[in-house]
Amino acid sequence: MSDDVREVKSRLDIADVIGDYVQLRRAGNSLWGLCPFHREKTPSFSVSRERQSFHCFGCNKGGDVIAFIMEQEGLSFREALELLAARAGVTLSKTGGGVGKKPSAERRAILEEACAFFIGSLRGAGGEAPRAYLARRMVQKDAWSRFELGWGPASWSALLDHLLSLGYTQNDAVTAGLASTGNRGAYDRFRGRVIFPVRDELGRLAGFGGRLIDGEGAKYVNSPEGELFNKRRLLYFLHEAKKSVRERLRIILMEGYMDVLRAHTAGYTEAVASLGTALTEDQAQLIKRFTDLCYIAYDADAAGQEAALRGMYILQNRGVEVRVVSLPEGSDPDDVLRGDDGGARFAEMLEKALPLPLYHAHMRRKDLRSPGKKLKAREDLLDGLSTLSLLDLSPHISNIAKIFGVLPHELQREIDERRRERGHAQNRRSLNSEEGIPRDESVYIVEGKDISDLECMFCSLLWQDADLRASLPPLEYLPLFADEASASVVAALFSGESPEELEGRWRAMGEDECLSRIARGDAILAREGLDSGRRTEDQVSRLTAELRAQGMRRRYEHLRGCYLRGDITDDERKEYAELAKNLKTGK
Ligand code: CTP
Ligand code: MN
Repeated sequence: MSDDVREVKSRLDIADVIGDYVQLRRAGNSLWGLCPFHREKTPSFSVSRERQSFHCFGCNKGGDVIAFIMEQEGLSFREALELLAARAGVTLSKTGGGVGKKPSAERRAILEEACAFFIGSLRGAGGEAPRAYLARRMVQKDAWSRFELGWGPASWSALLDHLLSLGYTQNDAVTAGLASTGNRGAYDRFRGRVIFPVRDELGRLAGFGGRLIDGEGAKYVNSPEGELFNKRRLLYFLHEAKKSVRERLRIILMEGYMDVLRAHTAGYTEAVASLGTALTEDQAQLIKRFTDLCYIAYDADAAGQEAALRGMYILQNRGVEVRVVSLPEGSDPDDVLRGDDGGARFAEMLEKALPLPLYHAHMRRKDLRSPGKKLKAREDLLDGLSTLSLLDLSPHISNIAKIFGVLPHELQREIDERRRERGHAQNRRSLNSEEGIPRDESVYIVEGKDISDLECMFCSLLWQDADLRASLPPLEYLPLFADEASASVVAALFSGESPEELEGRWRAMGEDECLSRIARGDAILAREGLDSGRRTEDQVSRLTAELRAQGMRRRYEHLRGCYLRGDITDDERKEYAELAKNLKTGK
């Protein structure tokens, strides 16, 4: 091991470095998280501080901190070492480099030169127009430096001339996306524009966005898509926001440069932007590295909201809870935050943000009532909802059912059906796709059409967990089970018989129903990432709450039937009213 490598490694803690990419939680002697190198819902990626190494039990990748960065950032050994050296504040002895493609550090150097030039131009003699523009838009001077704002002069070759004077060639400038070639040779790409430098999550310059300040042309011009400036992988200002994101346990996703600038200025330092495009898988993965909760604050125009929906589902299905902020018609976060009391108004809007399933249902509310559009709206909504996990969806079922104008269990049945179809389709797909994880769900689903997933999950949970059996009051829980076999499993377990004894007895009696409930519950728990050893106490208590809520809804529907038939006692009527109230307030 060279001295450089030893020096760099001794100054870094692998857990800190990996912690920038993966949310790690302590369990035993190791830290655990979701592996960034393969898709998984339950953590099998472990980091050991003691050994300064990582290992994934799922995909078997492992190694030291340099190996991690090479794999994660797609870098050569030398590039990874350079990146880590910069982080550790170590100056490397001058060797290495390599032939062929320029290392990314070198490709970025010209961008840094351009950035400095733009910044100087905003402050210099030719910068009156952009300075006036920024003043008009109420962008204060401290925001200039915080956001590294610059100015691309209106002339054809101000930047080019500057770069040539530094020894770069015309070709360098074109390759870096700073100049374009036309009939009369190369000319500057960013002319007459306020410049927003765009950095990746590590703070490395990726490219620029340029806002036209007057005249004709596209409102924004960005660096051309390429290896460094890849819109699908970038989130504007994440390198600055990530610390707040971790501390505040949430990220706020906006559309544009100006929105983020305003948000940070107003104290919302957890804001980033997806640069006007719909959220991609890569961006979702990036967000998941830092937080489990994302507020979406996109511009309030109908077309944009439609396009954004898919991205939101991507995010939610990556395990990030999505809440959608509703902004006043025709305005963006910049408008809101700039106004009187903007910070407080925005805080209120965050407070009122709708969880994705509810938001989607509200979007379709009108269409669901229109005879011509009803069918399509319904399909679209059910399609989206049925991709969500049980825990994501269940708290909202009764509210969404109201919007549909059906009873909760009817909606639940439709969604369950779609999930099954989807499960089968995915099973089929996974036969010829490497990535698809075969799902054993369908094996158990066929025979149990109308049996509640949740009840089966509880059979399995109680089966596996003696502490849980001891902690729940049987008399309160038994009535919550509608399925007879599930109820017998639970009753038997509550009675104190051990799972081993029960299994022996059931097998001897040919009592398959009970065992099949448990098997099905096991499979569902695994599908939802809730298998034993992985699930948290919080998840279990949410499931418990959901079981109670389901029981309450069922009792409500039963009483409602009695009520409608006029066959209800005074006590039942009281209970009915009480339940109606509780269901409404979501208790
Ligand atoms: N965008 C872009 N190219 C365009 C238009 C928009 O790349 N021609 C991206 C930019 O990142 C922009 C974001 O989409 O910030 C949102 O666009 P828009 O809402 O039109 O701009 P604002 O950010 O609101 O900018 P401004 O307030 O200056 O109009
Ligand atoms: Mn705007």
